[in-house]
Amino acid sequence: MGNKFSILDGKQLNIDQIEGRFAAFAKVPYAVTLRLSRPIAEDGYGTITVNGVKIPKGTQFLMDMMVKMHCLMVPVGSVAREYGKEYTMRLTGFKGEDGKPFPNTVLKFKTMERPQRDHAYDSHDEVAIWAAREGMVLLQNENEVLPLREDAVLNCFGSAQFCFRNTATGAGLINPRWQANFHQSIEEHSSFKVNREISDLYVQLRDVVPSDAVLRRAKELSDTALILLSRHSGEFSDNRPVKGGYYLTDDERAMIRAVSKAFSKTVAILNTGYPIEMGWVKEFGIDAVLYTGFAGMGAGYALMEILDGRTNPSGKLPDTWSYDYYDNPSAYNFINLPADHKQVGEKDFGVHLFYQEDIYVGYRYFDTFNKPAAYGFGHGKSYTSFDISFREPVNGIEHITVEAAVCNTGSRPGKEVLQLYIQPPEGTIEKPKRVLTAFEKTALLAPGESRKLTLIAPKKAFASFCEQTGAFVLEAGEYRIWAGNSLENSRIIGSFTLNETRVLAKTNRINLPVEPFKRLTRSDPTVEEASKIVPLEERIQKPAPRPVYAPTALPVYKGKKITFDKLKANPALLDNFVAQMRTDELCRLNVCGGADWYMPWQTGAAGKTNVIRKYRMPKMMVSDGNTGLNLKKRNIGFPSSCTVAASFNKELAYSIGKVIAEESREHRIGMNLGPAMNIHRNILNGRHPEYFSEDPYLGGIMAGYHGKGLEENGCGCTYKHLFCNGSDTSRKASQSIVSERALREIYFKVFEFAVDVHKPSAVMTSYNGVNGIYPAENADILQTLLREEWGLDSMIMTDWGTYDTVDPVEMVKAGNCWLTEGGGKYVRILQKAVKEGKLSRAVLEHNVRQLVKTVLKWDS
Ligand code: BGC
Repeated sequence: MGNKFSILDGKQLNIDQIEGRFAAFAKVPYAVTLRLSRPIAEDGYGTITVNGVKIPKGTQFLMDMMVKMHCLMVPVGSVAREYGKEYTMRLTGFKGEDGKPFPNTVLKFKTMERPQRDHAYDSHDEVAIWAAREGMVLLQNENEVLPLREDAVLNCFGSAQFCFRNTATGAGLINPRWQANFHQSIEEHSSFKVNREISDLYVQLRDVVPSDAVLRRAKELSDTALILLSRHSGEFSDNRPVKGGYYLTDDERAMIRAVSKAFSKTVAILNTGYPIEMGWVKEFGIDAVLYTGFAGMGAGYALMEILDGRTNPSGKLPDTWSYDYYDNPSAYNFINLPADHKQVGEKDFGVHLFYQEDIYVGYRYFDTFNKPAAYGFGHGKSYTSFDISFREPVNGIEHITVEAAVCNTGSRPGKEVLQLYIQPPEGTIEKPKRVLTAFEKTALLAPGESRKLTLIAPKKAFASFCEQTGAFVLEAGEYRIWAGNSLENSRIIGSFTLNETRVLAKTNRINLPVEPFKRLTRSDPTVEEASKIVPLEERIQKPAPRPVYAPTALPVYKGKKITFDKLKANPALLDNFVAQMRTDELCRLNVCGGADWYMPWQTGAAGKTNVIRKYRMPKMMVSDGNTGLNLKKRNIGFPSSCTVAASFNKELAYSIGKVIAEESREHRIGMNLGPAMNIHRNILNGRHPEYFSEDPYLGGIMAGYHGKGLEENGCGCTYKHLFCNGSDTSRKASQSIVSERALREIYFKVFEFAVDVHKPSAVMTSYNGVNGIYPAENADILQTLLREEWGLDSMIMTDWGTYDTVDPVEMVKAGNCWLTEGGGKYVRILQKAVKEGKLSRAVLEHNVRQLVKTVLKWDS
């Protein structure tokens, strides 16, 4: 085969999808992916033009999934901008690694027609727009520059106006039925006019500084400037503390400086997947800052409504926004790759991450150590004002209850969020200053309208974990109760005193660190840079002992064949149904039947159960994720979960789950691979937008309602990724080294709160190891914690391809019921292990029993 290029990703380019699922490789607005017959030589990169315009250099990579392919992503985004148009790409002067030239090639690709709204789905789409409206956070609004007049002329600065992002990538990617980008939203959903002279400067996606004359003319049209900044974020790669990542680029700074000098009113719109540096807001005297996050298919419409005041912002920050990245203690123990470090794969090297900040994650650090932050946890402004009063808290046995009244004292309708924090006493165990223990949001209150709300704080939400005794305790002393509409705006509304220490729950001692490491404390609030990259073979620094799971075999079944229909009619036959199977059949069911995302004709589902025809077992299909269905067919597109968390609205989280369930059923998806709810330990985690919060209570409660919404409306849910999946750099070979207390109070806790709201049908283990063993192969986690302590009767699955770095037999032995994404190879590995006496039939039976139970509920 000679050298050649061919178009890989279909001939219809989705120009609404700024970045596709594998965007981490591209880092550009949408790209056409070419398949290469051979890799291009390092000095062999030629010239690419689209309709005669030169295209910047693309990214070459090896797609190493089920089939290996050399690919080149060609960033055509700045040229191929029109819907339904054919473009011609010319490639000249390329040379392969084998020294042979690629022939000059002409390829045609077509952009898609713009999808139109399908009114049959209006009620679903309304939930998406609702989520976008409530998830955006008004960080500041000096001199009330927002809202703008509804017929204002918009002077829009920044390339982000032409690559306005509404989705994360990877498992958090949406493929919505319709959406409107920034400029379409202005046209379709506002009476604003656009100053084209300014906007046209940014079509080429460069953050240029307009000339003085252009700025002068713009100022005559309106004295307000909108500055748009955007940052991609998604699965597969972490963000970096570099210019263009966490920090502003030189071009952005120059543009902001010039604009803030020229205009008397400035509004910054942060369309970023994660918090970015914030010092520039003060430096350049920006008046208003609005954080849109990735707000899904309704993002543009919601943004217009907030800008012109039809919607009053009510979002609150689910994370602390520091001034600088290095204000966060976890910054020193994350792998902060430099800008020029090439994209890393999933297992290029081992990573040791020391969680030295310990329990002081997010606001627990800033609040306890009085570290100033640009915008604190729970903060978010409104266009109206509220008067909030709290009654004396009632101290029950398991809960603190507080009645509150909220009155809208301003002139616009609005919603307010009440937050309850508890400050535990100083005791023998040191504690964070305050922790969130309850929150509620009002309905829309008209000016002058009042509403009563009840806040109920479970005591377990503020118990401390004692490492001496392995118990959650409430230490003796005074507990102060703080309440308000943000952490910062809270005030003490009461207190209660415990005369003696109360043990709330004893736990099993599991997954403890196997090596000593420094931990940040009140008396020594410093960290050392200990995290490091190591050779792949050293990914587990010091292995933890491997716990054993030894269930008893099911009673032998010698009766008549039981088919799935019979089982469905009589679920009491479950044990016999499983016991009748041959061991090789059990092995087959313990492995996933592969993903349907490689071939153009496949649906894009992430996996399906293997079926065994003789029992007439149906297939159960699964698909990602938190924001909709990650399928090739267009469907609902919700905001990323971090934006949903900012709504602080449990009813909304439930409704999101409900809509995803309804659409899943339409697409014959039995189980959703979400919600993902890992803690925002470090703001540069690539999956930051996909996860909810830095706070386990907020994250767990919102995720729990999302899961409940899914399962009460016909679709299974999967809590993922257990545990500590807090970074994506070489994620399959990354190990989190974390104290028992931080696991119990933060990293396990978020899942525990979600389980308290709703018990999921499935859980997914994480790629990373924790304390010298991978959770996927840790029977202490899978059996003792999940089943015994939390009472979960769920199916446990691995994350996709965990077996790349973890022994598949060990995962099954620990009770992992589904090796994903699977394939015949893994069935054979299990069969061999049975033959060699390394894997018992009893374990396979118990795993398959869980799986069959799940299929019974959610078969597609
Ligand atoms: C992600 C999971 C996802 C799975 C299937 C993995 O890469 O980590 O969150 O559910 O793929 O798509």
